Amino acid sequence: MSEKTRDGMGRPDVTAFPDPDTHTISYVVADPATGAAAIVDSVLDIDYAAGRLSYRSADAVIAFVEERGLGVEWLIETHVHADHLSAAPYIQARVGGRIGIGEKITIVQDTFGKVFNEGTEFARDGSQFDRLFQDGDRYGIGGIEAVALSTPGHTPACMTHVIGDAAFVGDTLFMPDAGTARADFPGGDARALYRSARRILALPAETRLFMCHDYGTSTRGMAWETTVAEERARNIHVGDGIDEQTFVDKRTARDATLDMPRLILPSLQVNMKAGRLPEADTSGKRFLKVPIDGL
Ligand SMILES: [Fe+2]
Repeated sequence: MSEKTRDGMGRPDVTAFPDPDTHTISYVVADPATGAAAIVDSVLDIDYAAGRLSYRSADAVIAFVEERGLGVEWLIETHVHADHLSAAPYIQARVGGRIGIGEKITIVQDTFGKVFNEGTEFARDGSQFDRLFQDGDRYGIGGIEAVALSTPGHTPACMTHVIGDAAFVGDTLFMPDAGTARADFPGGDARALYRSARRILALPAETRLFMCHDYGTSTRGMAWETTVAEERARNIHVGDGIDEQTFVDKRTARDATLDMPRLILPSLQVNMKAGRLPEADTSGKRFLKVPIDGL
């Protein structure tokens, strides 16, 4: 990429909203020249034990957008999250924007439509979303160029959104000292994850990278921003010099030790429908399912 093109892409203002409950980081990405904005990976709070939703995280994002007078154009989901519910429909109803996800959502809907025995009324064509991004699709946020890159592996529908000089990597990369996300959910693929991570690391070295998750370590709190150069130099799973087979072996061995995320069952059921909650049944209440034999 030439310097000229890179300069032309622009530098968005990125504001992070870390959620300590689910270790998710949501973002408001704004074009400082026009006030156009995207919201990436929003969070709907749930007390799962009580079956109770709340809107503290989403309301904080909405308040920020309104205080700054931003015009929300996009509500981006980097993927179907398994550890938190999306607040995209709640936010969309208040500040607008189009909800977008990768076109491979259809594979995720097919897989988990079966797992949760969804009826024929559950369309598995991605039509619950306003936009299905294909690999290489270009769009804009005000005057800032953005491109969606298919980065499967953690899930088949994972995408990285490069918005100006900032890339929102979802769970394809973690901070350098944490490596990568797991690749063992249905549809996950460690080999694809390695190739996707290396695709991100082929972006210009100074590209700002923003994580979707961080769990902190014994020596630091939550962190979420790094660069391509930092990841290439120090990522413990996919940094320069680590080959695909070494990664696949390490990732597969580690995944075999991991428990399912606490909120995976409610998260998948809601997020595969673009964050829409189940319809009320004849009692007027809404219910989520728990498959007794698991995923
Ligand atoms: Fe994820």
